[in-house]
Amino acid sequence: MLLGQRDGSDEPVRWPVSIQGNPHLLIVGLPGMGKTTCLIQLCRQLMESGIVPIVFSYHEDIDEKLGALWGNALHRVSYAGLGFNPLQVVSDAPLAYMDNVTLLRDNFAAIFPDLGDVQLGRVREAIKQSYADRGWALGKRGEIPAFGAFYELLKADAKPDKGLMTRLAELADYGLFEATAGAPSLLDSSTPALVQIHSSQNEVLQRAFSTFVLHNLYQSMFRRGTQNRITHAVIFDEAHRAARLKLIPTMAKECRKYGLSFVVASQEAKDFDPSLFTAIANYLALRVSEPDAKLMAKIFAPSDKLTLYTDRIKQMAKFKAWFYSEGMRAPTPVALGNTQHD
Ligand SMILES: Nc1ncnc2c1ncn2[C@@H]1O[C@H](COP(=O)(O)OP(=O)(O)O)[C@@H](O)[C@H]1O
Ligand SMILES: [Mg+2]
Repeated sequence: MLLGQRDGSDEPVRWPVSIQGNPHLLIVGLPGMGKTTCLIQLCRQLMESGIVPIVFSYHEDIDEKLGALWGNALHRVSYAGLGFNPLQVVSDAPLAYMDNVTLLRDNFAAIFPDLGDVQLGRVREAIKQSYADRGWALGKRGEIPAFGAFYELLKADAKPDKGLMTRLAELADYGLFEATAGAPSLLDSSTPALVQIHSSQNEVLQRAFSTFVLHNLYQSMFRRGTQNRITHAVIFDEAHRAARLKLIPTMAKECRKYGLSFVVASQEAKDFDPSLFTAIANYLALRVSEPDAKLMAKIFAPSDKLTLYTDRIKQMAKFKAWFYSEGMRAPTPVALGNTQHD
């Protein structure tokens, strides 16, 4: 993928996307520095090289730009119920359903950051029970419970946790737990997809929607199995909005052999789980504020030049960036490309 030219020359700077190396890219930069534009350029090129973008959008601007690029060929996904059941168990491993219970608990932790361990524990127990009610046990497969079964169990509890129930009721009102199935997996499609997280005004629903769509991608990647090339790129613009999704680093660590690349663009790198930085090995640093500049310099500056690079990243001009890929001796300064302006 062509990122732009080496600053001050016409030498192309490329980000190689391959299943042989680390296929993930992290882009950081303050608002207005050119992240979304860079993502659009990448989306176009990815698609041209047979890698299908799946874009999580939190903002109208990327929708418009992708719309201008692909028109009706863009598959817009907005919330209208989930269209799939997150309780599906894709692996045959004896404890696979229990792993899913844990993942779902983490999902609710990301959706409701203020829930305590005890409340999340109750969610976990109820989901586990909904599996047990359908015949699941250690080493024994049962039927897939309805997503809403755990909610019914919690409602039937003699001493319900009021705070927890109020929060879940909000999602239930939007039909999140209603039994739906049949939406084809985004991974089965070769049409670029735009997941419009902002299609609802409700922030809790936005978090739930992004969380479960990502969870569904995670499950479908296992179901699809290992691949011999990168087939799809999961792209988050405004990724700080998804910083609580533990599934992003988890997935970034595991998804390469399943043919998935991750591209996350954000204005605040420091919000991310440190494990994301170990899962990603390609970085594009646009101008950021001091703490993020330090963080990026730590990743790619020679150790005796930390302060120098921190200052450089803080003072970067618009539409300029430092590109660094694991194994490079030093980062390359890039003038980012923009075909609409070239
Ligand atoms: N490489 C570039 N060359 C010229 N103009 C650019 C470039 N990148 C972005 N722009 C313009 O700058 C503005 C902000 O860019 P945008 O990509 O939306 O930044 P961000 O997503 O970081 O907030 C847009 O109007 C865009 O057209
Ligand atoms: Mg943007």
